[in-house]
Amino acid sequence: MSALRLSERALTHKVLFVCLGNICRSPLAEGIFSGLVDDAELSGDFFIDSAGTGAWHIGNPPDPRSVDVAERHGIDISHQQARTVTLEDFDRFDVIVAMDGDNLSKLSAMSDAPRAEIRLLFNAPPMDVPDPYFGGPEGFEDVFRLIRSGCEKLLTTFR
Ligand code: 4NP
Repeated sequence: MSALRLSERALTHKVLFVCLGNICRSPLAEGIFSGLVDDAELSGDFFIDSAGTGAWHIGNPPDPRSVDVAERHGIDISHQQARTVTLEDFDRFDVIVAMDGDNLSKLSAMSDAPRAEIRLLFNAPPMDVPDPYFGGPEGFEDVFRLIRSGCEKLLTTFR
């Protein structure tokens, strides 16, 4: 077991954000939630990561439109690298947070007996964080605000 895994185990809350490509929404969720956790001086209690259910962008940095909108809000997500969800994630994480119902269904079908709780970011309307990938840059500002409001609510569930 690596040193990272050993230190990971000591952390109280392990949270994985999941979207389709792991280049637009879930990297934003990872960066935004990490920022909220830092602001609350709780970073020592959390391990936060993101992944995708699709494999097209493995190893790539986040979409430049996500990097830009995060930067405008003071969050650096440029270091992140896309990866896919693995079976190990269902045991490694406490909570796996899907950005929309399609990804929630894919996650639910991947593991028979997950240790992790699998949930949507929003468990009340709007339910889904819309996929901004095929739209214009303005969609990324809307998605940023939506994810931030979902992450604020999510953090309260750990308090
Ligand atoms: P994400 O957006 O799931 O928020 O990362 C997408 C990124 C890439 C693709 C679809 C959605 N794609 O089809 O490549």
